Amino acid sequence: MAKLKPTYVCQSCGNVTPRWAGRCEACGEWNSIVEENTSGGIGAGPKAARASGRPIELVSLSGDSEDAIRIPTRSGELDRVLGGGFVVGSAILVGGDPGIGKSTLLLQAAASLAQQGKRVVYISGEEAVGQVRLRAARLGVADAPVELASETHIETILATLEKGKAPDLVIIDSIQTCWTDRIDSAPGTVTQVRTSAQALTRFAKKTGAAVVLVGHVTKDGQIAGPRVVEHMVDAVLYFEGDTSLTYRILRGVKNRYGATDEIGVFEMAGSGLREVPNPSALFLDQRDTGAAGSAVFAGVEGTRPVLVEIQALVAPSPLGTPRRAVVGWDSSRLSMVLAVLETRCGVRIGSNDIYLNVAGGLKVSEPAADLAVAAALISSLTNSPLPADAVYFGEVGLSGGIRPVVHANLRIREAAKLGFGAVNTARLGSGDRAEGVEISEYAALAELVGRIAAAGSDNAE
Ligand code: TYD
Ligand code: MG
Repeated sequence: MAKLKPTYVCQSCGNVTPRWAGRCEACGEWNSIVEENTSGGIGAGPKAARASGRPIELVSLSGDSEDAIRIPTRSGELDRVLGGGFVVGSAILVGGDPGIGKSTLLLQAAASLAQQGKRVVYISGEEAVGQVRLRAARLGVADAPVELASETHIETILATLEKGKAPDLVIIDSIQTCWTDRIDSAPGTVTQVRTSAQALTRFAKKTGAAVVLVGHVTKDGQIAGPRVVEHMVDAVLYFEGDTSLTYRILRGVKNRYGATDEIGVFEMAGSGLREVPNPSALFLDQRDTGAAGSAVFAGVEGTRPVLVEIQALVAPSPLGTPRRAVVGWDSSRLSMVLAVLETRCGVRIGSNDIYLNVAGGLKVSEPAADLAVAAALISSLTNSPLPADAVYFGEVGLSGGIRPVVHANLRIREAAKLGFGAVNTARLGSGDRAEGVEISEYAALAELVGRIAAAGSDNAE
């Protein structure tokens, strides 16, 4: 056998070097490099790999397959994002800011499954048993037969889980507090989190339990520590929202067993999270209908239409470089809409400070919001409130044209259901209509701008 070269791996970022050093070149961490034995594994050459591996049987693409077996949680919103319930043998990462309600959401899901007769184990690494019990009492689920422990040592957790009947659902709150004694770095470091997550994912595959890992999110929106955990698990869900408001949005960002564009909407109440089956009503609840700069966007999240208010404020700027602040939308998309308004519609807007906000803490990523944003901007600039019963959707092209978007019919019907009588959009196919709704179709953004400005000057007279 060829002589093995040792390799050195940074325990903080995973960088591999051929030489030991006191400081990792890649991440700058001190004292994080450890010698690792790679004999027989990747990096040991094809000969060594042949010696240690046994051939397996290769199969064709067609043939028997198993449908994913799901355990529904009875929470319509959670099930929607999961794609119909927890998949047996899958690992799910639930990320979110501290205090957003991850533990609350999962304790409620755990209780619901336990009440259906499933074996559910809740391991809290952050809170003592007493604290979790207090929360359970507050949520009114203290009598649910959830098995609870407060523990962070992975080997202890696995030994506990392997005792008795295999659990159906395991919740680890949170993965950042877990540590394994196979590795010598502090809990919360990349290697600890990665190794712990690996062990738990393997446990899920082996026993058929659905394992939920709770992860904290850093300021820049990543799950703290390792992105690698995201690659290891079958689904990644983010729980987000403005902590000063009561609604929370659960969003799928990766799902091997379902769609990723679905959202679940919840409302944080005194007794836990309540589902919001009709989020449009909630997002429009606080709307100030008489104000200039407010436009209602008829959006679609996954398979569900969601109406949200887009607020714009255009104010003269004292600065050489005017300010742009965007919450809940893409700022480069705003720059594009502004450039189209300037060059294609002749609107002098670029020298103003511009603030744009999607009300209710929702993040909108559809290009279909372009038209609503443009309408809100023009309304604010000309100080002319938009009609209270109008909704907007359509994608603005660089040429100044308005392009139709998918699910027009769904958006129109949702608008009609909530009492909006005027839909402003691109030229549609003939089929997309709803009773009692007047549809104004525009080929170019300039037409809409002209209409809003004309309504504004009528008001002023
Ligand atoms: P928590 O689930 O502990 O958040 P995370 O696990 O994401 O850190 O929820 C924390 C917040 O939720 C806390 O500020 C209090 C609030 N809350 C309620 O408003 N009502 C409730 O019934 C519960 C349990 C929590
Ligand atoms: Mg928590």
